[in-house]
Amino acid sequence: MNRQILIKDLSFAYGNNVILENLNFEVFKNDYIAIIGPNGGGKTTLLKLLLGFLQPTSGKIDIFGTSPLKMRQKIGYLPQYINFNMDMPINVLDITLQGKLTKSKLFYNKKDKQLALEKLELMNVGHLKDRKIKDLSGGQRQRVLLARALTKEPDILILDEPTASIDPEGQKEIYDLLKSLPLTKLIVSHDINILFEGVNKVAHINKTLHLHDSVNHDINLKEGHFCEMELLDYFRNHKCSH
Ligand SMILES: Nc1ncnc2c1ncn2[C@@H]1O[C@H](COP(=O)(O)OP(=O)(O)OP(=O)(O)O)[C@@H](O)[C@H]1O
Ligand SMILES: [Mg+2]
Repeated sequence: MNRQILIKDLSFAYGNNVILENLNFEVFKNDYIAIIGPNGGGKTTLLKLLLGFLQPTSGKIDIFGTSPLKMRQKIGYLPQYINFNMDMPINVLDITLQGKLTKSKLFYNKKDKQLALEKLELMNVGHLKDRKIKDLSGGQRQRVLLARALTKEPDILILDEPTASIDPEGQKEIYDLLKSLPLTKLIVSHDINILFEGVNKVAHINKTLHLHDSVNHDINLKEGHFCEMELLDYFRNHKCSH
């Protein structure tokens, strides 16, 4: 079945504060999973565990059959918050190229540069390649960081609220783009629209995890408009089994 991630009986606590409790979860090749849930529910914590930045208190995570730390190179990650040193004289292209660097690969070549430029173009920020990162808007910066994650040419893309600072039109553009990328994607979002943007599974996390295996896409969008009223209609007609 081409399983890429296996999470078994996973729990995590900060000291005595249990954040995630007994999660069981599998991710298969080309899954597109929306991770939803309230603030403080443990979404970012799960992503940090998947990247090996945190270690489980109990249970285990296998990625491609081995530990998250060993597989980090195969994962493109866009963190929820990035603290840039705004005094850094680094430009957009350099930031994007960082996606190609590893502990054992400290320099990049012409091909890497070409790839980084392609990904910036794909994210519609190619024209900003020589700008300093500090001189970008929040939404532009987010697109550059997405380009950086893609420049790594990952098998799995993990995004923590990638559209949080992007306007509705830009959000739609990013959703369309993500939909078209042929790789496994996990995306944390508070934007309910993500449920209708091609995801095949929805994981709700609030200390425990509930997986909804499919999303009904036949919601009636009136000329592309979607608001709380449509959402209410939708939930009235679809009973949740969990
Ligand atoms: N370094 C830390 N030390 C102690 N507790 C932490 C630490 N980081 C996060 N927490 C706590 O872990 C819980 C889960 O946090 P997490 O960041 O995973 O939530 P989240 O679901 O991503 O929330 P949000 O939607 O606000 O981003 C919160 O109660 C948070 O206060
Ligand atoms: Mg978070």
